[in-house]
Amino acid sequence: MPIIVHPNTQTFHLTNQTISYIFAVAPDGQLEHLYLGAKLHDREDYAYLTRRQLLGEQTASAFDQAVSPENQLFEYPEFGSGDMRLPAYQIQQENGSHISQFRYVDYQLTAGKPVLAGLPATYVDDPSEANTLTVHLRDELIATDLFLSYTLYENRPVITRSARFESQATTPLTLTEATSLTVDLPEQDYTMTTLVGAWAKERQINRHPLTTGIHSIGSMRGHSSAQYNPFVALAEPTATEHSGNVLGVTLLYSGNFQASVEADPYGGTRVKFGIHPHQFACRLDLEHRFQTPEAVMVIAQNGYNQMSQTFHQLFEQRLVRGPWRQKPRPILLNNWEGTYFDFNEDKLVALAEAGQKVGVELFVLDDGWFGKRDNDWAGLGDWQANLAKLPHGIKGLAERINALGMQFGLWFEPEMVNPDSDLYRAHPDWVLATPNREMSLSRHQYVLDFSKPEVVQAIGDQMLAVLDAANISYVKWDMNRSLTEVFSQGGAAADQGMVSHRYVLGVYALYERLRTAHPEILFESCASGGARFDASMLYYAPQAWTSDDTDAMERLKIQYGTSMLYPISSMGSHVSAVPNQQLGRTTPLATRAAVAYFGTFGYELDLTHLPEQELAELSRQVAFMKQHRQLLQFGTFYRLRSPFTGEHTSWMVVAKDQQSAIVGDYTRIGVVDPRTSALKLVGLDPDTNYRVNGKDAYYGSELMNAGIPITPLINAEHPADFSARVWVLERDSARLGGEH
Ligand code: GLA
Repeated sequence: MPIIVHPNTQTFHLTNQTISYIFAVAPDGQLEHLYLGAKLHDREDYAYLTRRQLLGEQTASAFDQAVSPENQLFEYPEFGSGDMRLPAYQIQQENGSHISQFRYVDYQLTAGKPVLAGLPATYVDDPSEANTLTVHLRDELIATDLFLSYTLYENRPVITRSARFESQATTPLTLTEATSLTVDLPEQDYTMTTLVGAWAKERQINRHPLTTGIHSIGSMRGHSSAQYNPFVALAEPTATEHSGNVLGVTLLYSGNFQASVEADPYGGTRVKFGIHPHQFACRLDLEHRFQTPEAVMVIAQNGYNQMSQTFHQLFEQRLVRGPWRQKPRPILLNNWEGTYFDFNEDKLVALAEAGQKVGVELFVLDDGWFGKRDNDWAGLGDWQANLAKLPHGIKGLAERINALGMQFGLWFEPEMVNPDSDLYRAHPDWVLATPNREMSLSRHQYVLDFSKPEVVQAIGDQMLAVLDAANISYVKWDMNRSLTEVFSQGGAAADQGMVSHRYVLGVYALYERLRTAHPEILFESCASGGARFDASMLYYAPQAWTSDDTDAMERLKIQYGTSMLYPISSMGSHVSAVPNQQLGRTTPLATRAAVAYFGTFGYELDLTHLPEQELAELSRQVAFMKQHRQLLQFGTFYRLRSPFTGEHTSWMVVAKDQQSAIVGDYTRIGVVDPRTSALKLVGLDPDTNYRVNGKDAYYGSELMNAGIPITPLINAEHPADFSARVWVLERDSARLGGEH
């Protein structure tokens, strides 16, 4: 029984093979957190783990003069009654009070994991995979119930959490903050990791020792953002990629979020994660119910790699849905960096033909195919083919691509509209705009008000008209600006605090409608590259365009950072032209491919102008990817050497049966070093003899403990700078892999 309840002590022990999470009902009816970490033996009473003593001038609990709420560990803390740390929620009442006190009522245990209506969530295929505990609390004075849900996966060090408020209040009652999770840890000696960035440098690893104070990341842009990814990890200071305790938390949400870590002056740490409270307001007396998004917690005992691998497997296996779950991804050619807006049907077909010759499987038509879209000033919102460019429409183009034996994919930016569009001229009230205020433009576009069901419906109708009419196997869903002047035109004042949240629900609803109508379509999400690369998107779109920065050296950092949380199969990664569009840097074709192999793999350049010799290299790359993509995309991924701390980057994937592995090793700037160095691999079977690139064979014990020799051949033809090597390791008796 993985969730043990001790009725006498009202203690809840969530435990599986590796972890324990324990809390109990305190004498005053609040939920007191007791423990999180490696599995503990079960016992009836863990009272020894409580933290209650009153220090100095601290405020005593109204219930017990000897107890200080400021030192207690709570499951979902209230504010204003002695606990002075960040609260889990806030409720404003008609008389102006913010004090609320939810007290324990009862609990419910269910096998499996209930769905969260309208929200993305991890799931189970079979109820035996997880158990869910829902604890019911109530604040009688405001006629409101609180349900805290905890799901423990049977075979993963994972706990998911969410909260639901249900109210029978008849007078104004406003939920102004509702986090999905708070965790109170009794210690403070941690290293904190977040993923920070900006356009074209998303998810850079930001790691520092935790110091006293409140450390917070978040987004108030309406989407999860390139600036701060919804992720935070706390690790013991000695933790490495391969050892040590690491707690990783993420939120399955694409909108405004906040993750805060409060290292308090008394030596404790509170982690909280949820929708950003900024301008959030839910009128519980009108809505009656508010469900928070789901937070996912990974409790790893073997370092950052294990935390990441746990997230990867959970997302691949129990977040991604449909036929693309754990299925290798098609190798694609996207026309964007090859043509930008300058194309017509014949030019696209010529490009696709060049792709077909090197073995590409999917041709993707990016921005510019619809409305009056010859540049980014016009056309968004008018999702009908531009017949001047595409005389036979999308259907005709798709047929020509299909005739080449290739699949066809198409770009949309559903949430946006240009002022210069038929849609905007017909429905100026369909955009987010605050009455009598200027409207901010970004990339010459406004944001459609997806909090309005009729807007979501109308855009969905337009998209389905295209998707129903043509043979489309893939959709790239872009989102190229943040939300501003957030206000739903014509909406009631009491509703405005819900617009950002409803916008996100509108995005989810449209995704759900499209994927229900066309379950076979592979969706790739994109937001100016990686400005909405979050776990919740994977519920709808199994892969995401990782970044608009396709420079191989920058991509090392971006993909390395992204791997903290997101699986290799989710990272859109393309080989693009040199000099690189964003940086002007020239890297070898082999290096660009060696980076892109660790992702979904594709090309984004004009193949019609490549020399024969490069096209031949492309053919070899595509063949290599086809042979190894199952392993590359779904093997166990390990980070070995970090691009954030030196000139070398290394990573590897290992097959689940440990019979094969692929290592990527990259040098940014070479140094003259006469010594032979070695790269120590991990995750192999010590007793298996692995043939390396079809040549010499070494035992796993050798490769892991002595290392693979990495003295490169360096000469004018093979400069060390921007170089890459890929090693395919295959069990000696197995079929030998092709030489790279
Ligand atoms: C964004 C995307 C690109 C491309 C362009 C098209 O920048 O990230 O991949 O689709 O939009 O306008």
